[in-house]
Amino acid sequence: MSTLHPNLAAGNCSRFLRACLCQPVDRTPVWFLRQAGRYMPEYRAVRSRHSLLDICRTPELAAEVTITAAERLGVDAAIIFADLLLPLTPMGLDFKFVADEGPRIHAPIRSASQAHALRTDRTGDLTYVARAIEKVAAHFALKGTGSSSPAGQDVLKGMGFSPSIGPASSKGALAPQGNQDQLGIIGFCGAPFTLASYMIEGGSSRNYIETKRLMYASQPGAPSMAALSPWVGSDSAAWPILMEKLVTVLAEYAAQQVEAGADVIQVFDSWVGALSVSDYRQYALAPTTDLVARIRSLGVPVIYFGVDTASLLPAMSATGADVLGLDWRTPLDQAWRTLHHAVAVQGNLDPIALFAPPEVLHARVAEVLAAAAGRPGHIFNLGHGIVPNTPVDAVLAVVQQIKNSK
Ligand code: CP3
Repeated sequence: MSTLHPNLAAGNCSRFLRACLCQPVDRTPVWFLRQAGRYMPEYRAVRSRHSLLDICRTPELAAEVTITAAERLGVDAAIIFADLLLPLTPMGLDFKFVADEGPRIHAPIRSASQAHALRTDRTGDLTYVARAIEKVAAHFALKGTGSSSPAGQDVLKGMGFSPSIGPASSKGALAPQGNQDQLGIIGFCGAPFTLASYMIEGGSSRNYIETKRLMYASQPGAPSMAALSPWVGSDSAAWPILMEKLVTVLAEYAAQQVEAGADVIQVFDSWVGALSVSDYRQYALAPTTDLVARIRSLGVPVIYFGVDTASLLPAMSATGADVLGLDWRTPLDQAWRTLHHAVAVQGNLDPIALFAPPEVLHARVAEVLAAAAGRPGHIFNLGHGIVPNTPVDAVLAVVQQIKNSK
């Protein structure tokens, strides 16, 4: 039986997908975290007429914003326009975005009974994201730059093609080079820890006190401490319940996106850098590993991204993710070495370098490329999202530099 990754076997030879699988590419693929955002006038124009959530929940608008950003920049992948927090609504948590503050969840989770009350049976309400992905896939397929069709993948699965994509199978067979200019379509969801942190803190946080309080209360033996300590009490079940429910919902949500045509799923664990290595291993690794395994069993690679993760990278790679997203604080070569080059890496230009004079920006981009040294399995990106007011020309200059750097 062929050991080719099902996505490559289905005819998607994009340099983006190939790099995710550590296959050789004609040049380094490039895309940007938050490439459709407030820095871009085209986005601001749509945003001036619609709220963020309206854009997310209207497939035509979400697809338009996704496509416009990818085409304006000339990047190798389009990330679907959505938000990390969308799954909170069908789970029963209302939230809104407050200008200059960020998300605010109305009734944050602080107890096991609240965690129990979260719903896992309404994930079907999120299919507007899948409908948007279908539109993006159809657009790029028409232009001949699209990804493989989900129908093609179904045919392969129907033929008994195993969607098992361990490192050995993904690297074992060299896929035909094909048309590497095809665009990759990226679906995404939050990781259990980062989504739980929003659900528990009620918004952005500096010290994650409430999150860690619930997390630590799940220590084996904590319930017996209840009489002694007012802090642990009866909430020892809250964290495991929350993790289990999040994994259930997120895996189903990711499956909807893959079914609709996403080639890759990126799992955002943006705030996981708040955890020590031992706390990561004890409280976040198992549910994240479960989520990654469920997504990979759909036949797509997983990119796992977090910020401030230098010390966590080896533990994060234990999730089985195909690609680790690196923040800009660690030199890329050093980070990749700590991972024994066993996975692909994505990153890791400082997003604020886009405000530097052109020659400084050029040098920083060259530094990232030199650190990757042309090794298969590097996807150029920022170490975190593009911030508002970033000059679009700087982003375009980076794309051009990558394209010239064959
Ligand atoms: O182009 C893309 O990257 C796709 C769009 C995208 C959005 N959110 C749209 C958005 C993606 C991938 C996200 C993910 C997301 N959302 C994350 C993980 C990524 C990361 O940055 O680490 C997180 C933590 C969120 C939660 C969230 N959404 C916050 C904290 C905020 C407020 C940030 C701010 O600067 O105000 C948002 C709002 C949001 N989501 C914006 C966009 C383009 C900006 C606000 C707007 O348009 O009004």
